[in-house]
Amino acid sequence: MNSVARSAPELEPHHAELVRATLPLVGAHVDEITTVFYRTLFGNHPELIRDLFNRGNQAQGDQPRALAAAIATFAGYLVDPELPHPAAMLSRIGHKHASLGVTAEQYRVVRDNLFAAIVAVLGADVVTDAVAAAWDRVYWLMADALIDLEKQLYVQAGVEPGDVFRAATVVSRIDDPAGVAVVTVESADPSVALPEFIPGQYISVGVRLPDGARQLRQYSLVNAPGDGTLAFAVKRVAAATGCPAGEVSTWLHDNVGVGDELEITLPFGDLTIDTDAITPLVLISAGIGATPMIGILEYLAAHAPHRRTLVVHADRSPRTHPLRARLRELGTRLEAMTLELWYEERTEGAHHGLLDLSALELPADADVHVCGATGFLQSVRNQLRDAGIPEHRIHIEQFTPTDWRLDSCPV
Ligand SMILES: Cc1cc2nc3c(=O)[nH]c(=O)nc-3n(C[C@H](O)[C@H](O)[C@H](O)COP(=O)(O)OP(=O)(O)OC[C@H]3O[C@@H](n4cnc5c(N)ncnc54)[C@H](O)[C@@H]3O)c2cc1C
Ligand code: HEM
Repeated sequence: MNSVARSAPELEPHHAELVRATLPLVGAHVDEITTVFYRTLFGNHPELIRDLFNRGNQAQGDQPRALAAAIATFAGYLVDPELPHPAAMLSRIGHKHASLGVTAEQYRVVRDNLFAAIVAVLGADVVTDAVAAAWDRVYWLMADALIDLEKQLYVQAGVEPGDVFRAATVVSRIDDPAGVAVVTVESADPSVALPEFIPGQYISVGVRLPDGARQLRQYSLVNAPGDGTLAFAVKRVAAATGCPAGEVSTWLHDNVGVGDELEITLPFGDLTIDTDAITPLVLISAGIGATPMIGILEYLAAHAPHRRTLVVHADRSPRTHPLRARLRELGTRLEAMTLELWYEERTEGAHHGLLDLSALELPADADVHVCGATGFLQSVRNQLRDAGIPEHRIHIEQFTPTDWRLDSCPV
């Protein structure tokens, strides 16, 4: 398995002193720094926002916040190794980078634009040569940890660094009543099969939008591995007040049909189940967060149908519950599966209102996987803590870039 080295990275004492002294200032301005950084980076390299970065996350500010949080968390750890090692954070970033084909050479470009932003925000009088050198060391310690992990991920996938993009042909599309399209693809090149994956992983899907941009989005895999296909389920993100319709989900819903070719990447993602374990699983989701759980259940149905599994899903109503019929059908194939539903709309056979885990008995030795929107994740995490579930058994998947300063962070 790939891993992040957990030994304390070394920051030389004189650098540590300067970082400790300037961390409060950098921390106070880190959101501004990352906002200026992306503006500078995309000004200098427009191809990066057109074809690599998610411009929805930029528009919403999620990605600058995630980068700010990652830098602040990592720097904080370097000057206070008593803090927990940010291995989970590095792993999440590394898998995301690998699923986008990020390579070591690109770290220099990011470094140069990030440091230009730091100087622009804090001023050259504050960012003296000595301060810049200390933060340069922080940057490269973090970058090297990521580069090393990403290198391991590419080696494991058996590809050259960044060579993760594949052409795939759509072999099926099934529309779910909750506004979700389930798309199954196989390799467009019959001589090269699509790779295997671990339940809980995702792929990136790239589409060429009408303005010429190639935008990539991640989608969790909803099929069992083993037959050479990859299936993912896309929820159409509709326009709402002040928020335009989602670009890629709308394009996929409007354009993708059987026989079409799509650009996808190899599967990555570290919030996977331990397929060797026989201990119980608890799968908790809300809304489109159901997708990784469906992938896990498909795996169990094919390979471990006797593993005890408690499935908990929360939604507004049965009509908005993605892949509801498929979940029911999986329940008939999984004799050790228990299903608990929470709908805000009163519904027979389901709990009424918002998810309340105190109504359930959670197996003490279970691994708990959780996926949903940020507010839901925070609430579930608190409820799991109250129920005495140890942190290391809680695995949280989030569909937006993670702000590690919030309490919803995956562990
Ligand atoms: C690991 C992972 C797994 C995922 N798995 C799934 C899955 O299985 N199924 C699934 O459906 N999704 C999944 N997602 C989410 C998916 O990747 C996309 O984020 C989702 O499909 C929306 O993409 P989009 O291009 O349609 O929306 P975008 O265009 O990216 O828009 C996203 C949001 O930003 C808002 N926005 C965009 N531009 C602006 C603006 N200028 N001003 C204000 N608001 C703006 C939009 O209104 C929308 O609410 C996953 C994400 C991750 C990270
Ligand atoms: C030390 C340097 C870097 C750090 C700390 C960093 C940090 C991050 C973080 C925190 C995320 C969000 C992960 C999540 O989904 O929660 C992310 C995503 C991403 N990173 Fe990096 N990154 C670095 C270098 C790079 C480089 C060199 C590139 C390539 C140009 C890159 C491209 C991306 C892209 C394209 C995404 C996804 C953006 C999105 O979906 O909105 N990163 N990175």
